[in-house]
Amino acid sequence: RQRVLTGITTTGTPHLGNYVGAIEPAIAASRDEATESFYFLADYHALVKCEDPERVQRSTLEIAATWLALGLDTGRAVFYRQSDVPEIPELTWLLSCVTAKGLMNRAHAYKAAVDDNRDAGEEPDQGITMGLFSYPVLMAADILMFNAHRVPVGKDQIQHLEMARDIAQRFNHRYGEHFVAPEAIIDEHVATLPGTDGRKMSKSYDNIIPLWLPEKKLRKAIMKIKTNSLEPGEPKDPDTASVYAIYAAFAGPEQRQAMRAAFADGIAWGEVKQQLFELVNAQLAAPRERYEALMADPARVEDELRRGAKKARAISRPLMDRLRAAVGIRALG
Ligand code: TYM
Repeated sequence: RQRVLTGITTTGTPHLGNYVGAIEPAIAASRDEATESFYFLADYHALVKCEDPERVQRSTLEIAATWLALGLDTGRAVFYRQSDVPEIPELTWLLSCVTAKGLMNRAHAYKAAVDDNRDAGEEPDQGITMGLFSYPVLMAADILMFNAHRVPVGKDQIQHLEMARDIAQRFNHRYGEHFVAPEAIIDEHVATLPGTDGRKMSKSYDNIIPLWLPEKKLRKAIMKIKTNSLEPGEPKDPDTASVYAIYAAFAGPEQRQAMRAAFADGIAWGEVKQQLFELVNAQLAAPRERYEALMADPARVEDELRRGAKKARAISRPLMDRLRAAVGIRALG
């Protein structure tokens, strides 16, 4: 069976971008009989970006509850916390030993950090940790540990997937065919959801719309999305409007068509936002109640994660045994 795998970093509250870019398509994929799904909470990755233990813990609960509230069937999918699978950091080390440093030098996130330092007149590596630098190796280990064929992600993760393929090939070349080369799966419609300021919706830009805002606050957040100053009656361009991009990610093809026509007819921004709110709220109202129930019962969430870790380790343990043998640090028992 084809294996599908994806993860979310536990550094904040889940937002609309995570939902349309990752969680929703992943849950849909998990319903396909022909696939085996692996979805996880990337809590080791969280430590690269977040130094606040309470926040990491809270985010882990929130993101876990999100997957469950949105209807992930944990009987079929393997749903786990990265840190519950100790073979993942172990594999990270084996992979580090075949990964070219030059490859990591080219990682977008690392390069951006170096550029920021240069712009600020600092030393290039000022404040940059080994965690940030080797982030893509940990991510490769997440994927290769379960030999995932397909990895549904947002566009921002494409380079990480390319690196994972490169690392898999190097390992295979040196030690034999242990890994499949994973492929990124990107839904072109929702490739990058913009945030309230028009840039990519991201925790780091402070422009997110949290997924589980109560109705009134959700409406308020949507009303705050930036638009241009065109008046009602003036034709508007859907392809440059964040409100339309978000609308399109939630709407079906007919609704999209109708909204494009309304833009051409000069619909008022306030009206677009009202319709966007109604669309999003209708999809989220029922899962929101389940989410709130789960947040009030963390033991149930924990229980799901423990069961998931058991299933994950039934796969990661024997593979790790084979890999240790392959590199020569153990005989195959
Ligand atoms: P993270 O936690 O930043 O984001 C989780 C997923 O949500 C997608 N996403 C978006 N999609 C569309 N529009 C947006 N505005 C938006 N913001 C976020 C991301 O592309 C991602 O798919 N490194 C990963 C986590 C990770 C991972 C993995 C993913 C760790 N190991 C292994 C796949 C496989 C990350 O930081 O995603």
